[in-house]
Amino acid sequence: MRAPRGTRLSGNRMPAESRSFQLTSLIAVLPGDGIGPEVTRAGLAVLRAAAARHSLDLRIEEAPFGGAALEALGAPLPPSTRDLCMDADAVLLGAAGLPGPPPANPALRPEQGLLDLRALLGVYANLRPIRPLPGAGEASPLREENLASVDLIVVRELTGGIYFGDKQEGEDAAADLCAYNREEIERVVRFAAKLARQRRSRLCSVDKANVLATSRLWRTATSRLVADEFPDLELQHLLVDAAAMRLLTHAADFDVLVTENMFGDILTDEASVLAGSLGMAPSASIGDGGRGLYEPIHGTAPDIAGQGVANPCGMILSVAMMLDLSLKAPQAAREVEAAVAAAVADGARTADIAGQGPAASTGQFTEAVLERLEKSKDGSA
Ligand SMILES: NC(=O)c1ccc[n+]([C@@H]2O[C@H](COP(=O)([O-])OP(=O)(O)OC[C@H]3O[C@@H](n4cnc5c(N)ncnc54)[C@H](O)[C@@H]3O)[C@@H](O)[C@H]2O)c1
Repeated sequence: MRAPRGTRLSGNRMPAESRSFQLTSLIAVLPGDGIGPEVTRAGLAVLRAAAARHSLDLRIEEAPFGGAALEALGAPLPPSTRDLCMDADAVLLGAAGLPGPPPANPALRPEQGLLDLRALLGVYANLRPIRPLPGAGEASPLREENLASVDLIVVRELTGGIYFGDKQEGEDAAADLCAYNREEIERVVRFAAKLARQRRSRLCSVDKANVLATSRLWRTATSRLVADEFPDLELQHLLVDAAAMRLLTHAADFDVLVTENMFGDILTDEASVLAGSLGMAPSASIGDGGRGLYEPIHGTAPDIAGQGVANPCGMILSVAMMLDLSLKAPQAAREVEAAVAAAVADGARTADIAGQGPAASTGQFTEAVLERLEKSKDGSA
C-alpha cells in the first residue's frame, strides 16, 4: 500500500477496537475490449471477496480504456483515465484491441494505450510467473513429465526496446528502432536478481548477443551487475532461440529469467503452454514506487469474446499478485491462489483447459473459486 497520493485515511469499515483509522487503497479498473470486461468482472468479484475477508478498505473506480475509450472518447488512454491511474495504488487491466487491421496512426490503435500506460506508470519490470496447476496441464500438448516441478518467473523489461523505438513506415519499406541504455538494463536486471535471491538463486539472462548490438550491451551490463552486486547468484546467458526451445524441453531447470521487452512478450506466450493455456498466465508490472499494473498476459481473444467462456485464471491470479505486491496482503494472495488451484484440481475448468471433460463458463469457474475462497482457512482452500 503506497503512502503518498492514492492512499487515503478513512474511518468507516474497521472495527473501532482494532484501529481508529484505516488506509484506503484506490484501485483503477480498466476492463478494455473483447474478453477484457468478462475476465475483469471475475477478477473484481474475487478481489472484493478477498478484501472483505481481510478487512482491506478499497475504493474501486472503473475507467474507459483501449478500443472502448477510442470509440467513446477518441483516445485509447483518455486524460480522465490517465489521471485516475496516476492517482491509484494499483491498476487492474483486462485487455485492449479491436478486430480488423491496425490503423497506421498509433493514436488510433487501442494497443497504443497499453504502451502509453506502462510508460506513464514507469512500470519497467513485468513479472510473469509460470506455475502449472495440477489438472490444468491435462489439455497441454506437452508431456506431463515436462510440466512436473516447473516453477519459473520471467521478468520482462517493459518500457524500452523495439516497442518504444522510433518507427518509419512507408508503402514499401519500414523500420523499428531497438534501443537500450545501460541504466534501463541494470534496473530491470537488479529487480530480477533480487527476486532470484528470494527464490532458488538462479538467474538466466536471455538475449541475441550473436547478432544484436542491444543484446551485447545487455549481456555485458548484466554480467557486470551480477558480478558486482549479486556474486552469490548462479548466472546463465542464453540466446533467445535456445531459450525458446529449452522452455519446452527443460522448463523445470529455470528459476528467474530476465529479458528485453519483445523477447519477454513472445517467450511468455510460449511458456503459458506449460500452464495449460494462455488464459492461465497472470502478470504484474512494477516500477520504483509501490504502484503496480496487474493484467493477464492474454489479449482480447476476439474468437471467443462475448460468449462467456473465457478462462479468468490469468486475471484472478493477477489479482493475487496485486494483493501481494501493492496491497501488502500476502495471506489474502495465498488464499486466492489456493482457491484457484483447488477449483481446477476439483474439475472446474473452462473450455481451453477442460480437454475431454465438461467445460465451465467464466461465471461458473469464478463461482467455484469464490466458494473455495469462502471456505479457506489459514491460506489453504
Ligand atoms: N495486453 C493486451 O491487452 C494484449 C495482449 C496481446 C494481444 N492483444 C490484442 O488482442 C487482440 C487479439 O490478439 P491475439 O488473438 O493475437 O491474442 P489473444 O491472446 O487475444 O488470443 C490468442 C488465442 O488464445 C485464446 N485465449 C486468450 N485468452 C484466453 C482466455 N482467457 N481464455 C481462453 N482462451 C484464451 C484466444 O481465444 C485465441 O485463440 C489483438 O488486437 C491484439 O493486439 C492485447
